[in-house]
Amino acid sequence: MMESQRWCQHILIAAVFLSCVFAIFYMYYSPTINRLHCPALQVSKHNVCADACINHSQIRNNTCAVNLTVLNNQLKEAKPSSPSQSETLLLIWMRPFGQNIAWESCSSQFQIEGCQLTDDRNLFNTAHGILFHHRDIHQDLSNMPTLPRPYFQKWVWMNMESPSNSGLIPGLNALFNLTTSYRRDSDITVPYGQTSERSADDRTYQIPQKEKFICWIVSNWNPDHERSKYYEKLKEHVSVETFGKSFNRYVSDGDYPKLVSICKFYLSFENSIHEDYITEKLFNPMTLGTVPVVLGPSRKNYERFIPADSFIHVDDFKTAGELAEHLKVLHQNTDMYVKYFGWRERHAVRGTLFGLEQACRSCDHIRRNRNYRTVNDLNTWYWG
Ligand SMILES: *[C@@H]1O[C@H](CO)[C@@H](O)[C@H](O)[C@H]1NC(C)=O
Ligand SMILES: *[C@@H]1O[C@H](CO)[C@@H](O)[C@H](O)[C@H]1NC(C)=O
Ligand SMILES: *[C@@H]1O[C@H](CO)[C@@H](O)[C@H](O)[C@H]1NC(C)=O
Ligand SMILES: *[C@@H]1O[C@H](CO)[C@@H](O)[C@H](O)[C@H]1NC(C)=O
Repeated sequence: MMESQRWCQHILIAAVFLSCVFAIFYMYYSPTINRLHCPALQVSKHNVCADACINHSQIRNNTCAVNLTVLNNQLKEAKPSSPSQSETLLLIWMRPFGQNIAWESCSSQFQIEGCQLTDDRNLFNTAHGILFHHRDIHQDLSNMPTLPRPYFQKWVWMNMESPSNSGLIPGLNALFNLTTSYRRDSDITVPYGQTSERSADDRTYQIPQKEKFICWIVSNWNPDHERSKYYEKLKEHVSVETFGKSFNRYVSDGDYPKLVSICKFYLSFENSIHEDYITEKLFNPMTLGTVPVVLGPSRKNYERFIPADSFIHVDDFKTAGELAEHLKVLHQNTDMYVKYFGWRERHAVRGTLFGLEQACRSCDHIRRNRNYRTVNDLNTWYWG
């Protein structure tokens, strides 16, 4: 009995002694302030540094001065109360063009897991990201959030219009953390459409019945557009069947697929010419089984998005007259014409689900990249 009591006392004394040593050691060496190199400014896997650097004022010369006590408290508070901690929440501040978004579909449409979309502005403080559609931002920024931004939150600028078609808004510099657009140099690139490999057991393609030669639908006619000038030259050599508001032959959304699919060729002429700006004017007719004749960025640029043998580029010919001759030859020669469908045995093509795809991919990006990022000079980047 006595023996074991003394044994207990010894253990107790040893424990107290060790605690004291540890406490003194901790007081001297407690790492409350750490100086970490901050590769987060590029893109970092070191989340501690990255999260700390998220507070802008803590960054000095690529180094973050981190008070770990403060940081840990911040991170604890940052845990979103809703939705569940493992989910990344993206708040759609402006529904692109006011359209309805199926909030649950990142998983079913794009196999993106762990992302939740919402348009409930009450969730501002817990949202990991906020999506802003450029078209819908007021010139004076009066419809932007006014609450202080949680330090972990990333603001995403979305624009699918070309610089020519979208107005510069002063005050957008150093406001956003990410960009999503059709441009390949965006943080989150979402082209207007894309091709994908077809599975080996699904390699047949039926060319739709053709009734028309060359078709073109135009809703906004502007004689200064490159495409208008080219069309004026082309129609001197070959007949082009024109539709749309500009030609008093309005085509409804319902009639569009039937009309386009019966055309052998479709003029996929962009309204403005910019790198990567390759729009639904290409991807819709392509999806409907016609051969696009494109006017836009260079052939090389198109080939980054679609197979080289799937389209005809106006630049492939010295003059509009030569293009017209080529189209006439293909019109008379079915064997030559069907060569433009060979790629369809290997690839399928689809258009982008506007708004939803940008939202889901932005959410996924935020989920995977917890680094500091700011878009300092949006206006120069986009409008040059
Ligand atoms: C920033 O870092 C570089 C390289 O580490 C160093 O040469 C430079 O003096 C630093 N500048 C400031 C203002 O601390
Ligand atoms: C770190 O932050 C804590 C909590 O605000 C504070 O008590 C402590 O003094 C800070 N440490 C330093 C070295 O600034
Ligand atoms: C960022 O750091 C500064 C100085 O350390 C502090 O005053 C400020 O509250 C921090 N901001 C956020 C959003 O944590
Ligand atoms: C987002 O950008 C803003 C503005 O540049 C910046 O203050 C903020 O710290 C950035 N946040 C993140 C999470 O990168």
